[in-house]
Amino acid sequence: MRSAPSLALALVLASCGASSAAPAAQTQTEAVVIPGPPRPWAELTRDERTAHMTREVLPRMTELFAAYDATRYDAFTCATCHGEGAREHDYAMPNPALLPLHPTGSEGQHQTVRDHPEGVRFMYSRVMPAMQALLGAPEYDASTGEGFSCYAWHPHAE
Ligand code: HEC
Repeated sequence: MRSAPSLALALVLASCGASSAAPAAQTQTEAVVIPGPPRPWAELTRDERTAHMTREVLPRMTELFAAYDATRYDAFTCATCHGEGAREHDYAMPNPALLPLHPTGSEGQHQTVRDHPEGVRFMYSRVMPAMQALLGAPEYDASTGEGFSCYAWHPHAE
């Protein structure tokens, strides 16, 4: 039970130490290159997925969410996305604690945009493209419903 978090922490610390360019990167966000997975995500082993999450996903997302709302996301962890007990649940998504979303184009979706304008803008313009790049996922194609979308990782409303 104890070894997994300390390994994750060691990897986080190692990656922080390695990237002395991090503060500079914050000031020139346009120029930041977001690394995708070392190979297609579907081909990665569980350990490789965990390593990519730890080295690339968590630090970048921590930075994004802190810039958006430092108070609300002052303790950003794997569990922020994956939910409490993530390890016990094999990091399965969706995390039931996330905001349930309605299908694209539905009235429910329009209501979510009206209820959470800033949150939706942040997710859509910052989190979604970053996460898509980090996973090396294809862009969402509305005609097929395939590709990366928020709806794939959030619980579904009704
Ligand atoms: C910003 C949100 C976010 C954060 C933070 C995050 N993850 Fe993930 N993680 C995801 C998403 C989305 C997927 C689903 C990728 C897929 O299956 O295509 C995922 C997938 C995974 C998987 C693969 C699960 C599977 O079924 O293949 C593992 C393992 C994992 N994450 C571990 C971690 C660990 C460990 C941390 C913390 C170091 C972490 N994640 C932090 C969003 C996140």
